[in-house]
This record gives sequence, structure tokens and C-alpha cells, in this order.
Amino acid sequence: MTFSRAIKIAPSILSADFANFGAECEAIEAQGADWVHVDVMDGHFVPNITFGPSTCAAIRKHIKGVMDVHLMIAPVDPYIDAFAQAGADVITAHLEAGPHIHRTLQAIRAHGIKAGLALNPATGLDSLPYLLDMVDLICVMTVNPGFGGQKFIHSQVDKVRSLRAMIGDRPIHIEIDGGVTPETAPLVAAAGADVLVAGSGVFKGGSVTDPAPYGVNIRAIRAAAEAALPR
Ligand code: DX5
Ligand code: ZN
Repeated sequence: MTFSRAIKIAPSILSADFANFGAECEAIEAQGADWVHVDVMDGHFVPNITFGPSTCAAIRKHIKGVMDVHLMIAPVDPYIDAFAQAGADVITAHLEAGPHIHRTLQAIRAHGIKAGLALNPATGLDSLPYLLDMVDLICVMTVNPGFGGQKFIHSQVDKVRSLRAMIGDRPIHIEIDGGVTPETAPLVAAAGADVLVAGSGVFKGGSVTDPAPYGVNIRAIRAAAEAALPR
């Protein structure tokens, strides 16, 4: 994974057909996805349950590029080894998931993979100076985690702008998760985000047997985001 700030579209398989994850991952990559975003939910940290490390290991074989695993679970630390062994390229944990996020990030990087830090919409940037040198990605949640298809929370755009200024030259991705569409993508791209997660915005209108709409949706989000970048 070489670092670049170019816009990357990361479809979330939360909006895919759960009975066809392998084929869905292949379809979104064939349709132009840069990363595959994998939402793990535990019914405790968030009010929804998805799947765990064995599903991640099974879909890994169907992903050629980056498998971006977003853990919405608490506690996190007992499961890091399992998700790393499942083949994650990035593991992102929530700042709010426990008192020892510093240790969690160290444990992720100890596997030689990228460590991500996710921030809920109500979480500020106060701890960031103490974490910036141990993260490879910061995920700004633009919805409350737990479900796809929610409305983008506009107050997060200023947070992205502040975060971009704090990051400076460090090779840290800013990822946006929730409510990304061709209408909201330009706002966060202009503010400094480079990884755009989109679930419903990519999968709407398509299916494993008719994946062309995935490509149309990915290209529309990418074009809107790129048009908002400073030239
Ligand atoms: C929300 C998940 C997101 C979600 C985004 O808890 O982390 O990745 O799938 O879905 P959309 O793009 O539909 O808001
Ligand atoms: Zn996510």
C-alpha cells in the first residue's frame, strides 16, 4: 500500500447482498472500487450485528486490493489478532470503544498492517496530538455508526478541515464514512478527505447479476469529489 492523497472510493459491503459477499467484492472491484470497506458490528458498541473475523477471512480471497476493516466493537483488543490473520490491510478501531485506544493502535501496527482511528460525530479532536504519530488513517464518521443509508451529518465537514490542518505532511489518510453521495462527496474532498466510504450510494440500483450501476455510482462519486479539489 503506497501512500497517496488521491481520491479513493471504498464501497461498504454493509449494503451488499450478504448471501453473496465474494461475488459482490469481485463486482465492486471490477466496477472501479479502490478499497473494499468491511463493517464489523457487535450489537453492543453499536445497535446492529454484522459478522466477524471468519467472514473477513472468507471474503479476503475475493478481494485483490485493500481490505479496509472498520471495527464497531467493544472491547477491541481481544479480536485484533483474528482480524489481522483474516487478512485485513487496515484495521480501524473507535476512539470511543474503550479507555486504551493508544494500546489498541500499537497492537494493530504490531501486525505490520495499517492502524485506523474512527471518531463518532460527537467526538472532538482533543486527543489527536497524542495519537497522530501512531495512526495511518483517521475515519470521520459522518453518520452515527450502526446502519447504512443514513443522512450525512454536515457538522463533520469542519472537523475534517481541522483534522487536515493537524495532519500536515504526515502520511495519514482521512476517511469519511456515512451518507457519501455525489452531493456530499465534494464537501469532504474539498475539506481534505481522500478515502470515501459509500454503502447505499454505490450499491443502489445494481446487483451481483447486474453490477454496471455500481460502476456508474462509483464514477459519479469520484468525479464529484475530484471536481472539488484545489487545482
Ligand atoms: C455505518 C458504517 C458505514 C455504512 C455507510 O455504521 O460504518 O460504512 O455502511 O453506509 P452509507 O454509505 O449507506 O451511509
Ligand atoms: Zn464503516
